[in-house]
Amino acid sequence: MQIHNLSKENTILNVFMSELRDKTIQTDNMRFRRNIERIGEILAYELSKSLHFKAKTVETPLATTEISLPENEIVICSILRAGIPLHNGLLNYFDAAENAFISAYRHHKSTPENFEIIVEYLACPSLENKTLILADPMLATGQSMMATYEALKPFGTPKEIHLVSVIGAEQGVENVSKHFNADTHLWISTIDEKLNEKGYIVPGLGDAGDLCFGQKLQQ
Ligand code: URA
Repeated sequence: MQIHNLSKENTILNVFMSELRDKTIQTDNMRFRRNIERIGEILAYELSKSLHFKAKTVETPLATTEISLPENEIVICSILRAGIPLHNGLLNYFDAAENAFISAYRHHKSTPENFEIIVEYLACPSLENKTLILADPMLATGQSMMATYEALKPFGTPKEIHLVSVIGAEQGVENVSKHFNADTHLWISTIDEKLNEKGYIVPGLGDAGDLCFGQKLQQ
């Protein structure tokens, strides 16, 4: 897998990341959602550098000019519910993309660290020969990303796959690296060291879904 870890460079992304992680600033849910969306836009921009471009002619009011435009047919797939602001950020830039949504949640068994991913709702266009972007803001164990990909397989074989995340844990990145083939790209803002006993990324930022949309009752 080709890993593009954007934290290796100092850019404006650091400001958005520090606000997302800061426990005082993250109480402002609107800012939290907007920061994830802004990061989605940055990740979309970086990802766009790997797309396939072809020269097209554009007519201005004064003359014609050539410009290279991406040819990929993109499908963005996000996992509800924390994926929504990241999805919006990607769609702001890839506004011609088709969209897929999946609901997947952690079903805890005997202990907090022992859980399986349950996939329920799934809405997806054909993926045949398309560019699939799988977006999950928190790549903790990678299980949601892998379960989503497995659930999407009946919808066709994509030409290429891009995984997009805000924060990953080393463990999750390693797990998805083994699951997806070598030409899959991972576009990620930063990779944190570890997971705690409940499967949360440390230092991470907490529960992204709750910080976007408020606390849920536990199942
Ligand atoms: N999901 C989250 O929202 N946060 C984590 O740290 C891991 C998974």
